Amino acid sequence: MIDGKKTMLSGMQATGMITLGNYLGALKNWVNLSDEEGINCFYGIMDLHSITVRQNPTEFRQNARRLLQLYIAAGLDPEKNCIFFQSHVPAHAELAWILNCYTYMGEMNRMTQFKDKAAKHADNINTGLFTYPVLMAADILLYQADLVPVGKDQMQHLEITRDIANRFNGVYGDVFTVPEGYVGKQGARIMSLADPMKKMSKSDENQNASIYLLDDKDTIMRKFKKAVTDSDGFIAYSDEKPGIRNLIDIYCACTSKTVEEALADFNGMNYGQLKECVGEAVVNELAPLQARYDELAKNKDYIDRIMKENAQKASYYANKTLRKVKKKVGFTEMPR
Ligand code: TRP
Repeated sequence: MIDGKKTMLSGMQATGMITLGNYLGALKNWVNLSDEEGINCFYGIMDLHSITVRQNPTEFRQNARRLLQLYIAAGLDPEKNCIFFQSHVPAHAELAWILNCYTYMGEMNRMTQFKDKAAKHADNINTGLFTYPVLMAADILLYQADLVPVGKDQMQHLEITRDIANRFNGVYGDVFTVPEGYVGKQGARIMSLADPMKKMSKSDENQNASIYLLDDKDTIMRKFKKAVTDSDGFIAYSDEKPGIRNLIDIYCACTSKTVEEALADFNGMNYGQLKECVGEAVVNELAPLQARYDELAKNKDYIDRIMKENAQKASYYANKTLRKVKKKVGFTEMPR
């Protein structure tokens, strides 16, 4: 709670180009949430998390800045919400260290994302990857967040955050707000266009599997044309037809229509026409965002100012919690 208002915090890693899945499943919900009155929102560009996987420094820097511009282009108001770079607020790394000492090896060993990532990056199973959830706990607890909108894949990390917070509070009294997960109204789970049983992911090596937010019209239409469906030849919304269902989900998320309304729109169409229709809906949805992005990308001074002001704002809240934690733990205060 800040000033009697509920606090919400979420973030994305500053790795790669975010996809239509990140946008419809997360970002768009954040925008809706941040329009609600009486809720304080923090959105992180989680670049400390990004280096758990090796990054090319030049691309990394570009991606992080691009992500900030995409947050704003998507509709997050950086004057109203606090949109900050995790690496600009040293308290994240500091609290993560402290919380590491209140987290057990066994707990981290159970994390399914760690197991998946360790298998994928077998040549670089670093300890940062192992303690990744502790840094995420620090992100959340520093701001005393009440609500954390996350997808299914991050639920386990949120659970461990709650466990760490409760453990710490159990020893030292009420230091941290114990956060709740928040599943958005829309909560669209967008699947890969190449394999509709898999989530659309920005780290997918197959470029045709994902729509990236800055893809141009031709690229978007081409990717939809190639989207994997089935050989039934009829349009229906069903678990047995994951490819078609995914196309309908995308259409509904872009047009704010219900499945029934969508099916009415698609009445009498073949798969080719359906794909074209969905592709156009996506192009229309992304066009204003892309136009705003282009404007922002030209305005370096504005972006720099936003970055600086928001880092200061985030630091203010984060340091407040960190000071309290250090005092409780028993660190010696530096004499003034
Ligand atoms: N781990 C999250 C992801 O990959 C990103 C993240 C980092 C995050 N810190 C967070 C999300 C704090 C919510 C709250 O999606």
